[in-house]
Amino acid sequence: GVVRKYNWNIARKVLAPDGVQKEMIVVNEQFPGPTIEANWGDWIEVAVTNQLEDEGTAIHYHGLLQKATPWFDGVPSVQQCPIAPNTTLTYRFRADIYGTSWWHSHYSAQYAGGLLGPMIIYGPNHLNGTHDYDIDLGPVFLTDWYHSEYFDIVKNVMSTSLTTILAAGISQNNLINGKMNFDCNQTNLTCTPNAGISKFKFTPGKKHRLRIINAGAEGQQKFSIDEHNLTVIAHDFVPVQPYTVNMVSLGIGQRVDVVVDAQGEKSEYFMRSHIETDCTNSNQPDALAAIYYGNSTQTALPTSTPQPDTITDCHDAAYPLQSTIPIYQITPPEPDKIHTIEITISQNATGFWLWHMNDVSFRANFNDPVLLLANKGNFTYPQNWNVYNSGTAKNIRVILKNTSAARHPMHLHGHNMHLLAEGTGDWDNSTIINASNPARRDTFMIKNNGYYVIQQYEADNPGVWPFHCHIAWHVSAGLYVNMMERPSDIESMHIPQIMHQTCRDWWAFTNTTI
Ligand code: C2O
Repeated sequence: GVVRKYNWNIARKVLAPDGVQKEMIVVNEQFPGPTIEANWGDWIEVAVTNQLEDEGTAIHYHGLLQKATPWFDGVPSVQQCPIAPNTTLTYRFRADIYGTSWWHSHYSAQYAGGLLGPMIIYGPNHLNGTHDYDIDLGPVFLTDWYHSEYFDIVKNVMSTSLTTILAAGISQNNLINGKMNFDCNQTNLTCTPNAGISKFKFTPGKKHRLRIINAGAEGQQKFSIDEHNLTVIAHDFVPVQPYTVNMVSLGIGQRVDVVVDAQGEKSEYFMRSHIETDCTNSNQPDALAAIYYGNSTQTALPTSTPQPDTITDCHDAAYPLQSTIPIYQITPPEPDKIHTIEITISQNATGFWLWHMNDVSFRANFNDPVLLLANKGNFTYPQNWNVYNSGTAKNIRVILKNTSAARHPMHLHGHNMHLLAEGTGDWDNSTIINASNPARRDTFMIKNNGYYVIQQYEADNPGVWPFHCHIAWHVSAGLYVNMMERPSDIESMHIPQIMHQTCRDWWAFTNTTI
């Protein structure tokens, strides 16, 4: 098949996406990073060279299944050692599912410093007829935006003071495709006013596909286009029966593909995205971009009317599970393994607030990746690596419970989760929504003081798959487990030598710096 090749150099650079200067970590001096584009079934090759002097890196391709290449899923301490400074790792994997997604660093909260970009896999057009579209406008890449460096935020969100933690987590701005204006009176940092917003073109009478991605660090995004409806055609990598709304809500990591019919009578409209942290702290400005109809000059600012906010409880799923119907039906069988996992927050012995799953707060161990150890027959790990080994089970269910007051966009690697049930309080241990064809996606929000029940339809992907909250500050503070699937098949995998070389390079780097 075709091989799509990318050459990426990762380095620090001072940029000012919204006018405020910030030292960022970027690929090839670009923000957002390059878009990965491929057709379904192609191979993708990304040669990643780490030109940072003092830290590792690793790139994850969000939502791809990585079937038969689980070592290229890009999570340090799980599938690989970090890529050491001045070394290169070439990822090579298949575009094994199609639709809209993104790639991002999975090293600490590095992606909040700029190391991320869109990923589009073109597939068959599954929607023939009335819900077809004419024009693909590509990614609408939403990033909540912080003016401080990612590592300073990580330090502050791992604090003994809840006030410090909450304040550090709040972003200063919100960007669409890496652009937005900022009021320079609000900052002491070097700031240029009117940095500019992104622009899109609508062709009158045509149907436009927009690929909306929440690639942020903390906030829920409520996205709308003034005076236009949105017809949703996919949740994450899963095409769904189309439905029409005036606003969509995305947790971090989630994607929503929409078709917009260009029937407006004005020449300019705003698209906007409102950011919320746990339904509050929403004083950040809305992200704005301008849509210009036809041949309008693309200079005038829109005077369009915002959509009413129809999503008053931002803890609610963007669309009820009852009505979410995947186009391609899969019926999950009865489980032969059930894990019950509870999310809590509490202080450790020295007073630091940490997130826990079943009382364990995940700690990364960059030196010995779980997958490489398992491949050598080593299945005994320290408790804080949080490995859930499902053994020979074929159908694995997870009952997830959240007794914290925050909601969490939980992401599972290597699979689309079947979403069997969700709600507030406790599951009744029996209700399954749309049992013959439940909703599925790779990232799903668990309510505050709530539950959800997921199932992998079959253990068809041997590997070690992280299951974690995608809020960058929560995963840094331990809200993370590793699901080990078919350990005996992991033992017999042929893992490429380059993965071992990457570890040797990393060990050499840490030995010289300690
Ligand atoms: Cu998009 Cu484990 O991440």
